[in-house]
Amino acid sequence: MFNTSEFLNRSLNIAKMIISQKLTEGDIAVDATSGNGNDTLFLANIVGCKGKVYSFDIQDKAIENTKRLLENNNISNSVEIVHDGHEFIDKYVKEKVKVVVFNLGYLPGSDKKISTKAETTILAIKKSLDLLVEGGLILLVVYYGHPTGTYEKEEVCAYSAKLDKQKYNVFHLEFTNQDNNPPILIGIEKRVF
Ligand SMILES: C[S@@+](CC[C@H](N)C(=O)[O-])C[C@H]1O[C@@H](n2cnc3c(N)ncnc32)[C@H](O)[C@@H]1O
Repeated sequence: MFNTSEFLNRSLNIAKMIISQKLTEGDIAVDATSGNGNDTLFLANIVGCKGKVYSFDIQDKAIENTKRLLENNNISNSVEIVHDGHEFIDKYVKEKVKVVVFNLGYLPGSDKKISTKAETTILAIKKSLDLLVEGGLILLVVYYGHPTGTYEKEEVCAYSAKLDKQKYNVFHLEFTNQDNNPPILIGIEKRVF
C-alpha cells in the first residue's frame, strides 16, 4: 500500500504504517480532512465493504476530488462523504470508531486561506476522543507552512500534551534534520481498561 523501502522520511508514511497495524477489515474510521481523497481511499481499502469510512471536508473541490478518486477505484457504499466541518463530527457519526485521521493544512493547489484552524481542529479532536473505542487512535499530520499553521500546531501540541496519561497515550514525532517545516505527526491512543 505504500513504499516501505524509504518510509521514515514523511509523517504521512509513518501515520499509514501505524494505521495499518491498528485498523482491520470491518472497522469504522474517519478521515477528518478529505482533501483529494487519498487518505479516505487508504482507509476504505483497509476496512473493506464490511467497514465504513466517514470523510469530512468543507470545500466543494475536495468533495468532488474525493468522490472522483473513490469512483475511479470502485469504492462506493463503504464511504460516507460529509460536506461539513469536522467540528460537527458528532452530528454525523453515531457509532464508536477505531481510527480518526486529520491531515491539517490546506488543499494542495487551492486557496491557502481555506485551511484547518486551531479552534475547530481542537473541538473536533475533543469530540473524536469521545467517539473512539478503547485502543482507538487519532493521528494528526500537522502541516504548518501556511499563515495560521504555526498557531494551529502550537495549540494542537499544547492540547494533546495535557491529556490525562491515565486515559491516553500521546506521542509527537518531528523530523529534526529536514528543511522547510516538514509536517509533524501527533498520535493519541485511547488506553484500554
Ligand atoms: C491537507 S488537506 C487534506 C489532504 C487529504 N487528506 C488528502 O488525502 O488529500 C486539508 C483539507 O482540510 C479541509 N478543511 C479545512 N477546514 C476543515 C474543517 N473544519 N473540516 C473538515 N475539513 C476541513 C480543507 O478544505 C482541505 O481540503
